[in-house]
Amino acid sequence: MTPWIELDVAPIPNNGGELILSQRGNEFSISLKGKRGELMNSRVYHSEKQLSKLGCAYLRETDNAKVLIGGLGMGYTLASALNILKNSAEVTVAELVPEVVEWNQGPLGACAKYPLQDTRTQVHVGDVKDLLTSNEPTYDAILLDVDNGPRGLTHSDNNWLYSEEGLNSINDNLRPQGMLAVWSAGPDYLFSVRLKNIGFDVITHIVHSRGGKKGDEHSIFLARKTQ
Ligand SMILES: C[S@@+](CC[C@H](N)C(=O)[O-])C[C@H]1O[C@@H](n2cnc3c(N)ncnc32)[C@H](O)[C@@H]1O
Repeated sequence: MTPWIELDVAPIPNNGGELILSQRGNEFSISLKGKRGELMNSRVYHSEKQLSKLGCAYLRETDNAKVLIGGLGMGYTLASALNILKNSAEVTVAELVPEVVEWNQGPLGACAKYPLQDTRTQVHVGDVKDLLTSNEPTYDAILLDVDNGPRGLTHSDNNWLYSEEGLNSINDNLRPQGMLAVWSAGPDYLFSVRLKNIGFDVITHIVHSRGGKKGDEHSIFLARKTQ
């Protein structure tokens, strides 16, 4: 069996531990150092693509759509959003760990067919939270896949994103009828309730990690701004 080779290690800001990029043949993995598990694997990306397909479906015919993606990972969510959106769209992808952006400009680029090279893509190297505190209705869709679900895993500060305060800020940053979509490894009833209490219309979709109903079941929370 082909062994895994560690290609690089990157620190997560604010003493969050380390991310490891590994390769085995043409398979890549980004994992959290220690026993905290795998964040992304280049063979399993169906639900990451579904995050964009579901979150951006209503923008297919919209001119000048503005979309924010939290978490570049291996670029599947970004590539899938670009496939749906028109040429006039602008997609900002925020990535906390600078090395993840470099990995996508290097060995990981081919995984999702180089979405960083698309002229509609803008990269924010830093916390997605930085782009959510202006209280300006800026985005038509905000797609979040920065943890394993609505609680901080990669970065404990991410808990803010799923808190009442964070969700209110996200709501303020969405344009009228805008869509928040959140990837999660599993259901989270209390998160749905929190979204509804803020005023979002909420639907939870169950999607599979490998497509065609294969692999693990993941949840995508779709929260639509009501005004
Ligand atoms: C599970 S991966 C995303 C996978 C991605 N959806 C894809 O299609 O490959 C999570 C990514 O979010 C990044 N991340 C974690 N917290 C973040 C934050 N607060 N702001 C921006 N990026 C963050 C991690 O460094 C990692 O690259």
